[in-house]
Amino acid sequence: MSAFATVAVQGGTKNADTHGALRAPIYDSVAFEHPDARSMQLTFEGKKPAHAYSRITNPTVSDFEQRISSLCGGGFVLAVSSGMAAISNTILALAGADTNIVTSRNLFGNTLSLFQKTLAPWGLETRCVDMTDSSAVAAAIDGETRAVFLESMTNPQLEVADCTAIAGVCRDKGVPLILDNTVMTPYLFDCRKAGVAIEVISSTKYISGGATTIGGLIIDHRTFDWNNAPRLAERAEKFGPMAFLSSLRQEVYRNLGACMAPQTAYLHTLGLETLEMRIEKSCANAMAIARFLSDHPRVRGVHYPGLESSKFHAISNRQFKGRHGGILTFDLESQETCFALIDALQLIRRATNINDNKSLIIHPASTIFAEYNEREKEAMAVRATTIRLSVGIEECEDIIADLASGLDSLPDVKDHGVSSYQE
Ligand SMILES: Cc1ncc(COP(=O)(O)O)c(C=O)c1O
Repeated sequence: MSAFATVAVQGGTKNADTHGALRAPIYDSVAFEHPDARSMQLTFEGKKPAHAYSRITNPTVSDFEQRISSLCGGGFVLAVSSGMAAISNTILALAGADTNIVTSRNLFGNTLSLFQKTLAPWGLETRCVDMTDSSAVAAAIDGETRAVFLESMTNPQLEVADCTAIAGVCRDKGVPLILDNTVMTPYLFDCRKAGVAIEVISSTKYISGGATTIGGLIIDHRTFDWNNAPRLAERAEKFGPMAFLSSLRQEVYRNLGACMAPQTAYLHTLGLETLEMRIEKSCANAMAIARFLSDHPRVRGVHYPGLESSKFHAISNRQFKGRHGGILTFDLESQETCFALIDALQLIRRATNINDNKSLIIHPASTIFAEYNEREKEAMAVRATTIRLSVGIEECEDIIADLASGLDSLPDVKDHGVSSYQE
């Protein structure tokens, strides 16, 4: 097995192009022709591996899927139009009315909204528990639980659960574990080794290679026996380990239509090739910036699992190869001070994305979580005093200089330096 960087650059289908182009071309075509009626029939029956219609498969998208599969130990991969499409397709293939999923309140806001607002009227119950307590996860699972859903590092709380322990609970209970690995990616966290059943990723983030396009990935790590999934048991008899993927390709994903565009697949394949270098740089930058902010008298607290003071430091260190991701949060004395700092910055951009090449800053409580009331925000540990910084791959000293001059420009307060911040 070659190293991650080698597979990221060289993996996937070889010689797909008749002209020998080293980079798989963008097959920007809706439909594909068949040599005769019989092969058309076999293609539609799924018995001949050929492309028919780009909402279902496309050669450029397949090439990207192949490369991801090579990076993930041969898992079954489906590329979709966004990270949210990856999550919604996965849940809709496994759960239904009068069933439940077990998850955390500390989730990416749109994911929580999908579960609690969009899917609730269709009869899906969302059970929120403390994911750092695997006995609480075990206690919440019952006969109607169709999946446990976890993020490798929550955003913006930056909470890290013991994924292997939760995978163990799921195995004992016969329930698949879905893990959103957007902020760690397969480079920093090997979901298959941890026992995760389905990995979902917003490839919009690190993989896209600098926030070029929106995309998502679903990876079936072949660790779960689909005979034990009530919605897939019948399929499992026919398709065996392919039951989940076939349910997506032949039904849920095909019918919802959230397919990845070939241009996106091209860009995300390109992004994948430099993923390792970019993650290493942004993690190293984030570590140095977390230390700088921790020492600054105007900053009341810094939340970054790379800091020894973080209660998630040990588990993050163990799970993510000693890296801690490119996102950190820090607290100032008030929302007004947060806004003043954000407005004072010259280099860091005011934008909502994460894991871009550029450093991005946002005040989560007034933006991403604006749809939630104060009580709900408190339950999700989203504070008015918190700023989120997604650290890019610029020269670290330049990012620090921007933050330093922004912090120095803040109006004086009497009690600065007194920590009111608790993780
Ligand atoms: C952890 C996580 N999962 C999923 C998503 C959704 O991804 P997309 O914007 O590609 O739909 C995001 C977006 O920020 C995210 O941070």
